[in-house]
Amino acid sequence: MAKETSAYQGGPPVLRRKAAHSNAFFTTLIVLTLCLVALSRWVLPSWKPAVSSPPCSRQRDHRHQYKGEKILWEPCGDVNGKPVECSNITVPMDQFDAENSGDKTFFIPLIRLRGGENATENLLLNPGGPGGSGIEFLFRRGKQLSDIVGDGFHLLSFDPRGINTSTPMASCYPTQKARRNLGDVRDNELVHDSPEVYAWAHNFVQACADTMDEHGAYINTPQTAADMNSILDAVGQEDMVYWGFSYGTILGQTYASLFPDRSKRVIIDGVANNFVWYGDFLDTEQFTDTENVLEGFFDECIKAGKNCSLSSLADTPKKLHKLVFDYAAGLKEQPISVYVNSTQYGLFDFPSLFYNGIFPALYKPASWYSLAENLAKLLKGNATDAWLAYSDQGWGLEGDGNTFVTANDGMSGPAYWPQSRRALLDDIVAKFNGSLFGPTENGDAYVRQQWKVPRTHNFTQVEGVETAHPLLILSTTYDPICPLVSAKSANRAFEGSRIVEVKGYGHCSVAVSSTCLAKHVREFLYNGTLPDDYTKCEVDGPYFIKPEEDGKVVAQKAFEDPEDEKIHLAQLELARDWDWRTARPMMM
Ligand SMILES: *[C@@H]1O[C@H](CO)[C@@H](O)[C@H](O)[C@H]1NC(C)=O
Ligand SMILES: *[C@@H]1O[C@H](CO)[C@@H](O)[C@H](O)[C@H]1NC(C)=O
Ligand SMILES: *[C@@H]1O[C@H](CO)[C@@H](O)[C@H](O)[C@H]1NC(C)=O
Ligand SMILES: *[C@@H]1O[C@H](CO)[C@@H](O)[C@H](O)[C@H]1NC(C)=O
Ligand SMILES: *[C@@H]1O[C@H](CO)[C@@H](O)[C@H](O)[C@H]1NC(C)=O
Ligand SMILES: *[C@@H]1O[C@H](CO)[C@@H](O)[C@H](O)[C@H]1NC(C)=O
Ligand SMILES: *[C@@H]1O[C@H](CO)[C@@H](O)[C@H](O)[C@H]1NC(C)=O
Ligand SMILES: *[C@@H]1O[C@H](CO)[C@@H](O)[C@H](O)[C@H]1NC(C)=O
Ligand SMILES: *[C@@H]1O[C@H](CO)[C@@H](O)[C@H](O)[C@H]1NC(C)=O
Repeated sequence: MAKETSAYQGGPPVLRRKAAHSNAFFTTLIVLTLCLVALSRWVLPSWKPAVSSPPCSRQRDHRHQYKGEKILWEPCGDVNGKPVECSNITVPMDQFDAENSGDKTFFIPLIRLRGGENATENLLLNPGGPGGSGIEFLFRRGKQLSDIVGDGFHLLSFDPRGINTSTPMASCYPTQKARRNLGDVRDNELVHDSPEVYAWAHNFVQACADTMDEHGAYINTPQTAADMNSILDAVGQEDMVYWGFSYGTILGQTYASLFPDRSKRVIIDGVANNFVWYGDFLDTEQFTDTENVLEGFFDECIKAGKNCSLSSLADTPKKLHKLVFDYAAGLKEQPISVYVNSTQYGLFDFPSLFYNGIFPALYKPASWYSLAENLAKLLKGNATDAWLAYSDQGWGLEGDGNTFVTANDGMSGPAYWPQSRRALLDDIVAKFNGSLFGPTENGDAYVRQQWKVPRTHNFTQVEGVETAHPLLILSTTYDPICPLVSAKSANRAFEGSRIVEVKGYGHCSVAVSSTCLAKHVREFLYNGTLPDDYTKCEVDGPYFIKPEEDGKVVAQKAFEDPEDEKIHLAQLELARDWDWRTARPMMM
């Protein structure tokens, strides 16, 4: 994700957006773009497109079929020097009704980073979103995840139906040009923007329905859960071994509820409330701890002293809070103009600061050092760096998988929502007016209200699901978007499940480094061992660390066992560059 911003400022800043159809969705795009910069800049030198394969002068078939598997794999590049292989499966449009599917299908691309010689099982990964590409995820973060998991498992991921290179791809716009021209609406002021968003959503949902054929209705999580069984079947594996992040916890919980008998090793990390996801209208629970993380940023900044630029402006967290909030209030009254040169200038306003700057940074404490630097300059009167870092970079994501999955999963459209604007606005104001970050969901509410694609499933989460083996549930203490209270809801949903809480800030356990956490993950994956009781892990190292010029990470404590150090370094890398798409359960 985004905010090690000081390192990215060479990136091409783009004029400020007019507006976005959904601020949340939009914000993600920005972060996504920044991520790509990060990727080329210092994270993934060995990125290769999934489709490339080594040049081959002889016309030899380099596809390979492994014993016990039904599909062929072919080399498709490498992850930090380790070869990866790609394959694909075709699944019925409706996994739960063959007759309804007829000959209609989805194409699901697969990718795999093989473990060591003794690895037999595949660990399925989902990076979140919804809308995150598993293929891209494995290229980008496969190395770190395999360092953490160890070489006893093959890491396998996929583009879920409708997402990225899966076909048909979920989209509300027939062309990129249509997306650019039609996608804009301002929506982050609940009351002021309501009439326009309401009217805009009316067109948008119609375009979603019209752009997709009947496949659109089957782009939902219960179907994707069933697709994961098709993947297991293709690789000849009975038991589900799974690690899902953020929205990936919705997928994991849905899978474990629908297919408890195959749920042998399911890890959900950075948990979203599955009861709310399928059964509620406006999710306020997700913001339970958002502001607590922001207060954590102020606390840790003061503790970090000189390592946090902002600490020169105040000597207590409370004073720091006041400085930043007073400044933000001023921005609401009067945005600041930033002029670099005649082709590069724009406005820095309240949404840039709160929704594009601070909010994403709460997901990733590794970005706090840079956030503090940018804020300090801003508060001292120079908005250039903050503008370069947090103004928007335009549309970057192809497809509308996020919208389809979210709206199709939950209760959406006229069957469930009052259709008057007033009724919806009253509800939104009642739930989100007091909330600093709630407005990031505003646009989505109107889309949910008016959604035209029919619901084709009736899944709801129930309590007390008995799985083949209990789930391992991971959470930080303060997660800005998937709060600990949601992890506790999953704990109630799944018999015998256990929570391991990392005593820190950020989204998903991978937002911070904790070898204690990694040990629990390994014990669970390899031996099925769950902690006896609710367990807490410490974070290894401070929050405000200046990023190295060369992008390398430096160990934050000493380890006797080199394997532990390897895990620690992998965690630091993950923490630094965790992608937004994994970050948000709802939007993007
Ligand atoms: C699907 O996988 C097979 C086996 O590796 C491969 O030959 C084929 O080209 C793949 N199809 C696509 C569209 O990538
Ligand atoms: C694989 O298993 C064999 C037999 O248990 C063992 O001798 C060997 O060291 C293992 N290899 C690795 C890389 O762990
Ligand atoms: C798939 O994801 C990659 C990486 O995010 C992106 O570059 C590419 O444009 C996406 N492709 C499609 C068809 O969405
Ligand atoms: C400040 O940062 C340095 C590394 O840049 C680190 O060693 C030190 O522990 C940090 N101090 C605090 C108080 O966070
Ligand atoms: C403005 O600055 C950007 C980046 O610093 C540069 O790429 C661009 O060429 C400049 N434009 C002009 C007209 O100087
Ligand atoms: C503001 O910051 C930018 C980027 O760091 C710098 O180039 C510029 O000179 C600063 N402006 C002033 C007035 O200090
Ligand atoms: C929303 O909250 C703001 C202050 O936070 C208040 O001024 C405004 O009147 C509220 N709007 C509604 C519709 O309640
Ligand atoms: C849910 O849907 C399934 C299959 O479509 C159906 O068999 C079942 O009766 C439905 N359950 C409820 C509670 O409607
Ligand atoms: C799993 O259990 C075996 C036998 O008790 C032990 O040797 C091994 O270290 C355990 N593995 C992990 C990752 O905990």
